[in-house]
Amino acid sequence: MITQSTSNKWTISPHGGELINRVVTGEHRKELLARAVKMPSLTISDWSISDLELIAIGGFSPLNGFLGKRDYESVLEKMRLANGLVWSIPITLPVSEKEAMRFDVGANIALKGNDGVVYGVLQLKEKFLYDKELEASYVYGTTDDAHPGVNKIFEKGDVYLAGPIVLLNRPTHEPFEKFYMDPAETRRLFRELGWKTVVGFQTRNPVHRAHEYIQKSALEIVDGLLLNPLVGETKSDDISAEIRMESYQVILEKYYPKDRTCMVIYPAAMRYAGPREAILHALVRKNYGCTHFIVGRDHAGVGDYYGTYDAQRIFEQFSKAEIGIEILKFEHSFFCKKCGNMGTTKTCPHGKEDHVHLSGTRVREMLRNGEKPPAEFSRPEVAEVLIRGMQGETEQQ
Ligand code: ADX
Repeated sequence: MITQSTSNKWTISPHGGELINRVVTGEHRKELLARAVKMPSLTISDWSISDLELIAIGGFSPLNGFLGKRDYESVLEKMRLANGLVWSIPITLPVSEKEAMRFDVGANIALKGNDGVVYGVLQLKEKFLYDKELEASYVYGTTDDAHPGVNKIFEKGDVYLAGPIVLLNRPTHEPFEKFYMDPAETRRLFRELGWKTVVGFQTRNPVHRAHEYIQKSALEIVDGLLLNPLVGETKSDDISAEIRMESYQVILEKYYPKDRTCMVIYPAAMRYAGPREAILHALVRKNYGCTHFIVGRDHAGVGDYYGTYDAQRIFEQFSKAEIGIEILKFEHSFFCKKCGNMGTTKTCPHGKEDHVHLSGTRVREMLRNGEKPPAEFSRPEVAEVLIRGMQGETEQQ
């Protein structure tokens, strides 16, 4: 729903109506940091730190903490929080049973990183055991531990700690700090730029011509593009965030209208949950102030676990008002040699033999060998960045 804000400019409502802010600053922060020294402490993973941060900055609004049992079960079974609001992926804080025994319900727990920094505080409301197979089959549609998201479930602790959080220190996002913005900041930016409609784009891959095509097709009908690459944890064979970010920068510089495009990092971990993650991605981008969100082919998919358009179809289970951000669905896009441009089966009459199709594996292989994929697949400037980056990574190994 787009509403008129107090500043008299158009803005989209955050999910649940209120943009959550659990970032503690100033004197209150100093006080809490001093108190945290005496609190029982828990060392949490980088994944959990990124969840903590996204809750605190409002990316995961309306969540104000890690999910309790009622919300957790409702999200698994109904893709809704217990209050009925759409929410597709449980945001939880796992610990081992042994660790869980150290904490009493009602306690404040200092949440530390492996670096010893206190990132936040959890007010422990609840701790509960959960069924890993059940979570895997609901969220990922499979219990196969070859699935990277499922594998994570089986690796983590058996108990979830739940309750509201606050953020005291932000994790570093170097070398991407200059591309970091809170949802409140992107919202302000869109207002200042006069963008009434903004399309959000999620990606965890280096930019290729199909990405550019669907982004620019969307840009024909909205005011601005928020390129929002995910830079949190990804599976080990994905191309690193450093190389991906460099590929976006070269292409933005040369091929995108500067006054209608901005790039901000999305500091989340990738779940590879396909359809359910598409919903999460859309709701988060609504919180960042986007009015539209792109879902193309096999969004957030991995291997053959999801059908090409499952991540689009899942939105049919909800009303438009419940999702609250317009989903722009794109078919599989490709370059057609006969058309001499990009298209989909909706716009191109020619057969597969005229289409340039390359699998991700084939592209990675070409890049590692220093070979440029065809210009119809990848802009040459992007290919150069990728070849340089991937060869650098191979040398480091
Ligand atoms: S994702 O895991 O973040 O979805 P990726 O970065 O590859 O992976 O995709 C970003 C977005 O572009 C997703 O919405 C995806 O569906 C879409 N997309 C990627 N490649 C194509 C393509 N060839 N045609 C249409 N949409 C695509």
